[in-house]
Amino acid sequence: MTITDLAPALGLAGENAPWWRQAAVYQIYPRSFADANADGLGDIAGITSRADYLGALGIDAVWLSPFYPSELADGGYDVADYRDVDPKLGTLADFDDLVAALHARGIKVVVDIVPNHSSDQHEWFREAIDAGRGSAARDRYIFREGTGPDGATPPTDWVSAFGGPAWERVADGQWYLHSFAIEQPDLNWAHPEVRADFVRTLRFWSDRGVDGFRIDVAHMLTKDLSEPLPSQAQLDAMPQDGLHPLLDRDDVHEVYAEWRQVFDSYDPPRTAVAEAWVDKARVPLYASQQGLGQAFNFDLLEADFEAEQFRVVVTDNLALAAESGSSSTWVLSNHDVVRHATRYGLPHPGRAPGGRPSVKHGLEWVLTGGVEPQLDRETGERRARAATLFMLGLPGSSYLYQGEELGLHEVADLHADDRQDPTFFRSAGADFGRDGCRVPLPWTPDGATFGFGADGAHLPQPAWFADYAASTQEGTEDSTLSLYRRALGLRHALQTGEQLEWIDTDSADVLRYRRPNGWEVVTNFGQAPVDLDAVTAGGMAREIALSSEPIEGATLPGETTVWFAPQR
Ligand code: BGC
Repeated sequence: MTITDLAPALGLAGENAPWWRQAAVYQIYPRSFADANADGLGDIAGITSRADYLGALGIDAVWLSPFYPSELADGGYDVADYRDVDPKLGTLADFDDLVAALHARGIKVVVDIVPNHSSDQHEWFREAIDAGRGSAARDRYIFREGTGPDGATPPTDWVSAFGGPAWERVADGQWYLHSFAIEQPDLNWAHPEVRADFVRTLRFWSDRGVDGFRIDVAHMLTKDLSEPLPSQAQLDAMPQDGLHPLLDRDDVHEVYAEWRQVFDSYDPPRTAVAEAWVDKARVPLYASQQGLGQAFNFDLLEADFEAEQFRVVVTDNLALAAESGSSSTWVLSNHDVVRHATRYGLPHPGRAPGGRPSVKHGLEWVLTGGVEPQLDRETGERRARAATLFMLGLPGSSYLYQGEELGLHEVADLHADDRQDPTFFRSAGADFGRDGCRVPLPWTPDGATFGFGADGAHLPQPAWFADYAASTQEGTEDSTLSLYRRALGLRHALQTGEQLEWIDTDSADVLRYRRPNGWEVVTNFGQAPVDLDAVTAGGMAREIALSSEPIEGATLPGETTVWFAPQR
């Protein structure tokens, strides 16, 4: 018997279930959502101005990517002050207004916590630079002497996740570790002040009414830096079994056990979801109810649009979630990957163009691929709608990324001068980076920035964005936006118990699953239409509640998902 079977008895399903277990969480990348003050950057007041749109979408929560003071060396994931709003984006009062507007519409608020590294503009890092070698201030980060004559060679040959060396030299000759961009020095999690400060930050936002947290690279905080430090090749060869010097260490869970006490000291308890790129078998440690409580699963995002792959991903991840007492999460798009409408429209679905593997130094990114002449937009959008409807019917939480409800594609052909992502620059353009999914949203079909703001947009929007404008789709029955709204509305009825039962379909291309309350989801991953009666083995005496493509008669078109209402 698994926790999933026990869920109703434990009050984990049905009306008493904590909201996060089966939530639809909509990710907002604040700088690209809506620009209220017309400076080209999206802002907090811009999000508030779209609260009705968010309310009408039918989501349960909004996850805000970082909106803290930042020099934007990594799109805000370089945080200069964890307890403030970037003045370019507004004020704490604006933030309070946003929380009030979302709560008034029944929408929870999740904020992003970036604990592995701060910005090099953080007051602690400025202090560390000024205080010099051997100072207490330097000990909050990871400073080491270099090697070779004059210490001019970095302490190790470690490579940063964004490419290039993971060490940067400061004026007095010492080096500091940055697992990501140069402007993102890694914090020293062995330091009690670092630990205490993040507890303060969690309380700060919890006290302001925030409902939960998304924890950035949750598997990287603690490190064993005892000498001699291993080489990159040695690191790569080491198992990630909890004792690896840099990744997924067992001792990181001491941090999360302490955070859990903070979360549980609130009523209702605050929630957290871990972004942890770790071996599958170790995900439950992050999702444990004594730890963060939930963890991202990026398997759907990495799968091709193919029935067997989807079936395996779902089965495996439901089992994993049950092991931790958590619910599963599902993601098709986020701010780090090529939008799923585009991935599915490329000749190598789910892969970077050309089938190029996208493994980056232990982190897997599905990176954007520049100009892609072979993109078949319509196929991509049709598959994306089918995949989304498949996902939204699953037990667990679905994380949606702004713009996917418009069927938006990646902007693949941004000019090098317009790009912002450090991955592009640190790889000398070999990786196109993640800007293509971060282009400001089109709200209207016309205007200088398609309704994003009064003036320019910080990343240029292509002319074809006009075809995806929210205002046009709002009034159109068969638009992707209307489909999302209907699905998210119906989803509340569908998401009661947390179980899923697969039902045979006699077709390798068709998946069918049933939820405990009788709702059924059928997806035809193939291109050829199939006979619905045959697929449902004569059980078609049920009402089609929703379909990702128009259904005529008893034929299920290719690349389509259907939701069947429970039998009356
Ligand atoms: C975030 C990225 C960011 C990186 C470093 C990732 O988990 O999703 O956008 O660049 O962490 O903070």
